Amino acid sequence: MDFYDLISKRESVRDYDPIRKIEDKVLNKILNAGRLAPSASNRQPWTFLLVSSKEKLEKVRTCYQKQWFHSAPYILIIIGDKSKSWVRLADGYNSIETDLTIAMDHIILAAEYENVGTCWIEAYDPKILSEAISLKENEVIFSITPLGYQNEGYKKHGKKERKPFEEIVRII
Ligand SMILES: Cc1cc2nc3c(=O)[nH]c(=O)nc-3n(C[C@H](O)[C@H](O)[C@H](O)COP(=O)(O)O)c2cc1C
Repeated sequence: MDFYDLISKRESVRDYDPIRKIEDKVLNKILNAGRLAPSASNRQPWTFLLVSSKEKLEKVRTCYQKQWFHSAPYILIIIGDKSKSWVRLADGYNSIETDLTIAMDHIILAAEYENVGTCWIEAYDPKILSEAISLKENEVIFSITPLGYQNEGYKKHGKKERKPFEEIVRII
């Protein structure tokens, strides 16, 4: 698929087939896209945690109370280690959130390419989530996404509600 078509057609998916698994080969391609993402000073301060067992899914799902989220057959959590990410000397800025965001975006676009649905989620309960996966010291999470195929019959809305180009681009 053409890259520009891909980014125009991608939509957040909020209706997952709970049964249909994603082939390992496809999952690996999607996760590998995250591995290839750039990060400050190439520190790659991340771990991609794919939750797929029934037992773990049950625990992790409690962090976000939307019914559609509970039917996704996989949940991907990108964990960062802020002791490993780059820190700017001038002011102590730590690049962890930026690094993890780029990795998630690579993964979401690769999933779209493979016809696998995603939905970036921030409105989860961080306390419940970190307890469900036993986060270690220095580990942080900034986003999670379900991964799975859309339910049959689910139709993309096909609208891109975005601000007009002229409103958001400034050329000086
Ligand atoms: C940082 C971020 C946080 C988001 N958090 C949520 C969320 O908690 N729940 C949800 O349903 N969608 C969430 N979304 C999805 C956005 O609502 C969605 O991307 C936006 O409305 C544009 O729609 P589209 O992804 O279909 O193009 C989030 C997206 C981003 C980028």
